[in-house]
Amino acid sequence: MTQHAMDAATTTIGTMRAAVARRFGGPEVVTVERVTKPVPGAGEVLVRLHASTVSIADHRIRAKDLPRGLGFLAVVALGVLRPRKPILGMEGAGVIESVGSGVTEFSPGDRVMVMRGSAMGCHAEYATVAADRSIVRIPGEIPFEDAAALVFGGYTAISFLHRVDLGPGVEVLVNGASGAVGTAVVQLAAGAGARVTGVCSAGNAELVRSLGAERVIDYEREDFAAGDERYDVVIECVGNAPFRRVRRILKPGGALLMVITDLRGMLRERAQSRRSGTLVTHTGSVFGAEVMRELAAAAETGRIRPVIDRTYDLEDVVDAHRYVDTGRKRGSVVLRIANRHG
Ligand SMILES: NC(=O)c1ccc[n+]([C@@H]2O[C@H](COP(=O)([O-])OP(=O)(O)OC[C@H]3O[C@@H](n4cnc5c(N)ncnc54)[C@H](OP(=O)(O)O)[C@@H]3O)[C@@H](O)[C@H]2O)c1
Repeated sequence: MTQHAMDAATTTIGTMRAAVARRFGGPEVVTVERVTKPVPGAGEVLVRLHASTVSIADHRIRAKDLPRGLGFLAVVALGVLRPRKPILGMEGAGVIESVGSGVTEFSPGDRVMVMRGSAMGCHAEYATVAADRSIVRIPGEIPFEDAAALVFGGYTAISFLHRVDLGPGVEVLVNGASGAVGTAVVQLAAGAGARVTGVCSAGNAELVRSLGAERVIDYEREDFAAGDERYDVVIECVGNAPFRRVRRILKPGGALLMVITDLRGMLRERAQSRRSGTLVTHTGSVFGAEVMRELAAAAETGRIRPVIDRTYDLEDVVDAHRYVDTGRKRGSVVLRIANRHG
């Protein structure tokens, strides 16, 4: 049988191509395989994905690379001997192929962007999503690859930024301003009128300025936590700015939003908040459909635009992981999922 005939045969019995990590390790543990195509249950939609991204979350899960002290989570959430969710990919964009019973808000043919989060499964031709959760129609003519590139950073940024009041004159510092989350935070905070300072390497300064930062600090030349500036909000997207480092640059009543922290940071945040009178937190405050709606509105009005560093085909997923593993990507690394059957 030819490859084409085999593909056609397997399609009819409900399989799809997916990037699968059957063990923990380096990029090479990811292989593209045929796996069972999911079927939407009641209240779910089946999305034929056109694009996803390889994010830092995929790296963390694949490599079991979690912040210090959170190793126990690896066992509980990620799997003991092999990944519990072998198909990686938290988010994606595509077209609704079919809907399960009871779904009225979406129809086949709708262009959507989705966030499955820790359920993963978006590095595949198809994924199911609960229709009342993290799914929204893609506004206008935004291409699938752009839509996919918006979700990981945009969702995280919106969820965390709901913790604070942004507006004209509010001073915001974004540590890690050139990553997927940082580029989204810079745009949304600047768009809300805040005065944004971005921390990144010199090579990314222009990008971060173009996204709305008034000032950029090159972390290789200057310690942002040692300067005279004071901030209402510090958003930590790197993992090297715990409260003990940034407290002196936080204004009274300010906030440290730790998109990334370790176990110690999590355990101490309540006491640090209480004692300092600032908000110290490692969680966002809105989730799911509300965030997706807000993301779509921000994309529609141009308050957020995708920052795409590189684009890889699903077949080249190992190279995409290799690049993400450098820790130096700018914005998103898109995974293009060309569907072979239509
Ligand atoms: N809590 C949550 O819900 C949540 C959600 C999403 C992500 N996260 C976490 O948030 C963190 C950021 O995620 P991401 O997707 O934005 O990561 P990312 O895209 O992989 O970040 C890469 C960027 O980090 C920058 N960077 C590296 N070292 C830096 C340093 N010392 N100072 C400033 N910038 C530095 C790099 O810029 P240069 O090349 O210029 O160094 C690069 O542009 C990750 O640790 C991730 O696990 C948490």
